[in-house]
Amino acid sequence: MKFERAAVIGAGAMGSGIAQVLSQAGIEVVLKDVKDEFVERGLKNIKRMYDSRVKKEVLTQEEADRLFANVRGTTSYDELNQPDIVIEAALETIDVKLDIFKTLDQVCPASTILASNTSALSISEIAAATKRPGKVLGMHFFNPAQTMKLVEVIPGVKTDAATIRHAMDLCRDVMKKKPVHVKECPGFLVNRLLFPYMNEALWAVQGGASPQEIDDMMVAYGMPMGPFALLDMTGIDICGHVNTFLYKEYGPRFEPSPLLDKLIAAGSLGQKSGSGFYLHEQGVIPKKGEPLKVNPKLDAIIKESNADGKLRTSSKKLDAFRIILPMFNEALYALQEDVVTPEDVEIGMEFGCGMRGGILSLAKEKGLSWCLDEINTHHKDLGERFRPSWYLKKLVRAGVKDFSQLQAKETITAR
Ligand SMILES: NC(=O)c1ccc[n+]([C@@H]2O[C@H](COP(=O)([O-])OP(=O)(O)OC[C@H]3O[C@@H](n4cnc5c(N)ncnc54)[C@H](O)[C@@H]3O)[C@@H](O)[C@H]2O)c1
Repeated sequence: MKFERAAVIGAGAMGSGIAQVLSQAGIEVVLKDVKDEFVERGLKNIKRMYDSRVKKEVLTQEEADRLFANVRGTTSYDELNQPDIVIEAALETIDVKLDIFKTLDQVCPASTILASNTSALSISEIAAATKRPGKVLGMHFFNPAQTMKLVEVIPGVKTDAATIRHAMDLCRDVMKKKPVHVKECPGFLVNRLLFPYMNEALWAVQGGASPQEIDDMMVAYGMPMGPFALLDMTGIDICGHVNTFLYKEYGPRFEPSPLLDKLIAAGSLGQKSGSGFYLHEQGVIPKKGEPLKVNPKLDAIIKESNADGKLRTSSKKLDAFRIILPMFNEALYALQEDVVTPEDVEIGMEFGCGMRGGILSLAKEKGLSWCLDEINTHHKDLGERFRPSWYLKKLVRAGVKDFSQLQAKETITAR
């Protein structure tokens, strides 16, 4: 399928990044928001992205001007210009999205693919608001969309194979991204795997570790930044919301540490509010490796969190593996459910989280049997957060040491 014209709904942080990438690929883009001032802000953002590419000598000024001219702003659905694809990046509220997709279905040609950049809402539900559910899917970009390579391509239950293929081609061949095909499930791939890891770091802090100790440990392990630096950067309120959402969807494996809710109640929302796990100077982005001051309120918040008596102690000395294994185990659950292939797990964690080498490589390093033993020990000590996936047990019983030993037919075939 040829992509010549696109529309992006929502000119905020994500919408402007997505529109920039599409325009740089030579596609004419209509950027729609609800008010002129929001459209203007989005266009200014895109101009800034082009300026930065000129400064870095990725593009000449003439090239940047020509490509920026591919983007046109509007507040009207009448000006969408018969797009081949629409990517929606408006508010994360189901009613807003249902309304947008109902309208898009009426104003776009029957051949137009309709995609949502939702982080967590149901693609199948959004698709059901249209008369073309076969042409609706999720395209989950990562922030900042103009630089992050990963896109999770998520079909709903009725999305047809051609739509998935076209979206994958657009991401890979035209937008030069790294698309992974993810079956619809709560958290899709990256958030589903990242949150059990961050949640375990929270429980470990409740157990007496310091945020800085865990951050240093996880950076030494190979993460681009520690979980607490990441929580503060993303926003404690946003992370608290996702953590609770995943717990509601998946149950005890995701039992959230109460720390995030208590920090939210104390007004410590991370970098944007001046304090989270660390103290932040507002508007100043901490430099890599710079020592941070722990929020002095944290000790009292931990004490208060532990008062519910739910904290269990580990028989093992804290190490990076305890924090990373919930991510590994969740990856095995995702494989067990046929949500994704092992190859795409690694692409997702590398290009969505900056984890060099991915997460399943842990099996190569330590062996699946070691991973299962460790998970079992933590399961005994710490409870349901570490219930091992039966797929992991099955592989260990079969004598499989790591994923490279699996034949293609033993990995996911029903795709
Ligand atoms: N920010 C992230 O890290 C991130 C990452 C991946 C996905 N997402 C998802 O992308 C979407 C947008 O997030 P964002 O961070 O860019 O938000 P944002 O608040 O920066 O921008 C949203 C924009 O949508 C506009 N909007 C609201 N209702 C609209 C409507 N009916 N029609 C057109 N425009 C409308 C708003 O005016 C605003 O300009 C959300 O669904 C979010 O969950 C966000």
